[in-house]
Amino acid sequence: AAQLPDGYRVRSLRSTDFATGFLDCLRVLTTVGDITEAAFVERYEFFAKQSGTYFVLVIEDASGKVVGTGALVVERKFIHNLGIVGHIEDIAVAKDQQGKKLGLRIIQALDFIAEKVGCYKTILDCSEANEGFYVKCGFRRAGLEMAHYY
Ligand code: ACO
Repeated sequence: AAQLPDGYRVRSLRSTDFATGFLDCLRVLTTVGDITEAAFVERYEFFAKQSGTYFVLVIEDASGKVVGTGALVVERKFIHNLGIVGHIEDIAVAKDQQGKKLGLRIIQALDFIAEKVGCYKTILDCSEANEGFYVKCGFRRAGLEMAHYY
């Protein structure tokens, strides 16, 4: 696994991460909106109740600030003999922390969980601009994304 800078560590998201920069980290990726602490905690607790389904990881720096995040959603199927598929979602590394292998470390950690919980594959959607990153993480182009926005 990629080495983290001194003092950095990977851990699971906590209900107290409203205060540690988790949402700001996600703002590197897309619109987050104005989420209250109560709403954040409610969503966190919803995830926690679906045991074995949502794995949200963060990387914190030596000061405890969240500088990277990523999620694995575990989908249980009927097909493929009750197969289990991992979905990697919402990968983000703080702008001033990019290029230090934090993204790679997050993907490695999520991949490790996916394999451990029995996924036969893990899939994700990304832009063409990020294809090279995921190729370096061991993924390859497969399929085509379709979307229907409401
Ligand atoms: N294109 C090609 N190669 C890349 C790219 C890229 N866009 N980004 C990183 N790499 C390479 C690095 O050069 C490095 O290669 P090396 O091992 O030869 O040195 C390797 O991939 C690992 O890079 P990291 O340092 O781990 O990348 P970083 O920590 O900067 O994270 C990330 C990459 C997550 C894409 C980051 O730039 C980011 O947060 N971008 C904005 C948000 C975003 O686009 N997230 C992904 C959305 S897709 C999804 O969430 C499923």
